[in-house]
Amino acid sequence: MTDASSTPAIPVTIHRGDYRPPEWQLPDIALDFALGIDETRVTAALSVVRSADAPAPLTLRGDGLTALAVRVDGEGWNDWRMEGPDLVVDLGDRTAAVVEVETAINPAANTQLMGLYASNGMLCTQCEAEGFRRITFHPDRPDVLSRYKVRMEGDKALFPILLSNGNCIEKGESEGGRHWALWEDPWPKPSYLFALVAGDLVVNRDEFVTLSGRKVELGIWVREGDVERTSHAMQALKNSMKWDEQVYGREYDLDLFNIVAVSDFNMGAMENKGLNIFNTRYILADPDTATDLDYDGVEGVVAHEYFHNWSGNRVTCRDWFQLSLKEGFTVFRDQSFSADMGSPAVKRIEDVRLLRAAQFPEDAGPLAHPIRPDSYQEISNFYTATVYNKGAEVIRMMHAMVGAERFRKGTDLYFERHDGEAATCEDFVRAIEDGAGVDLTLFRRWYEQAGTPRVTARIESDEDTGERVLHLAQAVPATPGQPDKAPTLIPLRIKAFDLDGGHGIEEERLVLLDRGEMAVPLGHYRSRPMLSLNRGFSAPVIVDFARAGGELAWLAAHDDDPFARYEALQQLMLDTLVAAVSGETVDHSVVIDAVAQTLGGRAADPAFVAEAVLLPSEAFVGDQMVVVDPDAIRRERLALQAAIGGALEAEWRAILAETPPPAAILSRKAKGGRRLRGVALAYLAATGLPDTPAVAFGIFSDADGMTERQAALATLAHGDSDERVAALDIFYQRYRDNPLVLDKWFQVQAWSLRPDTVDAVRELAGHPDFTLANPNRVRSLYGALTGNQAAFHQADGAGYRLIADLVIALDPKNPQTAARMIPPLGRWKRFDEARQTMMKAELQRILAQPGLSRDVTEQASKSLL
Ligand code: PHE
Ligand code: ZN
Repeated sequence: MTDASSTPAIPVTIHRGDYRPPEWQLPDIALDFALGIDETRVTAALSVVRSADAPAPLTLRGDGLTALAVRVDGEGWNDWRMEGPDLVVDLGDRTAAVVEVETAINPAANTQLMGLYASNGMLCTQCEAEGFRRITFHPDRPDVLSRYKVRMEGDKALFPILLSNGNCIEKGESEGGRHWALWEDPWPKPSYLFALVAGDLVVNRDEFVTLSGRKVELGIWVREGDVERTSHAMQALKNSMKWDEQVYGREYDLDLFNIVAVSDFNMGAMENKGLNIFNTRYILADPDTATDLDYDGVEGVVAHEYFHNWSGNRVTCRDWFQLSLKEGFTVFRDQSFSADMGSPAVKRIEDVRLLRAAQFPEDAGPLAHPIRPDSYQEISNFYTATVYNKGAEVIRMMHAMVGAERFRKGTDLYFERHDGEAATCEDFVRAIEDGAGVDLTLFRRWYEQAGTPRVTARIESDEDTGERVLHLAQAVPATPGQPDKAPTLIPLRIKAFDLDGGHGIEEERLVLLDRGEMAVPLGHYRSRPMLSLNRGFSAPVIVDFARAGGELAWLAAHDDDPFARYEALQQLMLDTLVAAVSGETVDHSVVIDAVAQTLGGRAADPAFVAEAVLLPSEAFVGDQMVVVDPDAIRRERLALQAAIGGALEAEWRAILAETPPPAAILSRKAKGGRRLRGVALAYLAATGLPDTPAVAFGIFSDADGMTERQAALATLAHGDSDERVAALDIFYQRYRDNPLVLDKWFQVQAWSLRPDTVDAVRELAGHPDFTLANPNRVRSLYGALTGNQAAFHQADGAGYRLIADLVIALDPKNPQTAARMIPPLGRWKRFDEARQTMMKAELQRILAQPGLSRDVTEQASKSLL
């Protein structure tokens, strides 16, 4: 049976150092599925070959499975036993055999969405990381690679479409209205890349001709009625295929590439060989229902999964400690792709914003871990911003140090050396060293050490000679299990701007900070130069740099690196907010002038300007403080927003008075224009001027697409107007049958800055359209709440209770999604004592629940340390 109670009560810790090669290889697997929603029968024929020298039992992992029959080389076999959830077959001194096992599973009862499950009447699978063992007994470790042959048979009316990895080599009809299909994947793969889909689906078909002339049939499979919303995903797929050929020389390797969209999915998408399975939210998009950000999400995730075909599938991971080998590299690849498709500066700003919002706090809290972790209890808990996004930054630094051309030599060597293998992070670093010709000895510490390095910078000036020296120092903070850290290699792009006709370094330089402290001569200047540091965010570090007055404003206006201009303005805003929250009287005019100056560039690059003038989030302001004061942060941020809104009212109104670009136009400029209008509306609304609800409602009503409509709705949702109530109602009535848009309706209410948001969320959880069965819906309500700092940290602890109640209710159904809601409660050390006490009490209340999953147990217990 596939229920959560099969997970053990006492979690076992798995250590990276304990890795042992498998004792049995499985070159071939034949799977036979007799499909049914409530019962699917699975017969697995595993051809096993012993790789250990001496006889060894064959351990096949299971999770909630019962072996109905075991055969060896075609004959009934009794030499097997259950060891907990696993099946151990004694094969005596055989060195090879065909082991056949029959199991029965219930997809309809599978609420964890791992293994084979039912979603909207169709059957689909999710096997990464350890879901295959919920389908059949198997070693289920990524270093066991097999060729798969999959036969499936089912009711033709229920499951007219039958898909698996590779190519369909045969199909036919059978008795009783049933039909069958036989699929074969020629590429050996680990079990986590297995996939099967059966259901009533329609397809958007296209094709792509590869570099060497191979014609590939492309299919995006969705439910009837959704096919019109798949064209953006299809275009993204074709662009990705071309880009991977051009930039990495990687060609697709099958005649068929299928994508299936499902509405119940724990993550974003999955790179199963030749049969990617996606959360609908990363496939479906049309101007009426998807925002520009949603469109970008589709493009980025389609690319990500496609790129995994090489970085993940052709070269896979030896064990799950190596997860960043495929994820960090693939995130770096999808980021580079999206930068090439759109605006590199805006993409970099978004990526850094995400890193600071999700990864920096993780690295500073009780769940901090290196991008290559040393131990885990439940691997699902390690699909983190650290493994993915910090992992991508680590790859990006290597790229920055050796340059694009040499980096390509390194990746070519990596793919050549390890094609068809299960590799390690160390293999990747060594291939870059050998291919690009670089020594990464010290750099390897990025794989070993958790914690965000802090770089302190100071300029020393000799007023007589005019000589200026940049003093840099680095420190990596202590993290759980790692009290002492060593210096690592930090590549910092710098440039000095001379305002006074001196002769300093005019060109950008890459400084390699490779020790605790270092002095970098900048040259001779009559006055202190404007120093642009960590340009493009060349290293994922926190920079402490005491700036002279006016420097940040100058850089925000004049730096020739747009990312650095953005950074300077953000730092200016951040300094102002932190000062205000600490009780200092602040002068808003410096920020207002800088925003006004930046707005001057809006005609040329509205997308950049929109990003640059956004205020830092409440959470990011909190991250700068020793003790976070959520209420003061909200108050001061709103005050600054209102000040900017009022001082520049005329510009915001001018922006809003322009005719918006038609929603169907997705050019960089059109998207940027819409983004800027959303920002303008938010600033204008922050003034509280009496006509602003009407302005927002006007935009909401006139909008010809979701970007404008959602921005106006979100703005209204912060307030208290009749227009708010009306807009929410209109939106609900119009989109109540579209789950992805209904998610937005829940989300904007949970994001609201209104003081009653926690109560509103509690009430919305009782709404007939709310359900714990759908992870997107859970995230749209509760995930949005934990991102709403002042609401989640409401002084009476109601936000904490709500999240803990959710975790307790959701864990028996979907432990993975439940566990993902815990980290916000684990940030207690950063808050005042009253909040600390309440947050810890909620974690303890969660841990006191009987029958808790391994996922939630690990996250909650580590969060208390
Ligand atoms: N490997 C997937 C990706 O990043 C993520 C994923 C992990 C999906 C686990 C489902 C389950 O592309
Ligand atoms: Zn991935």
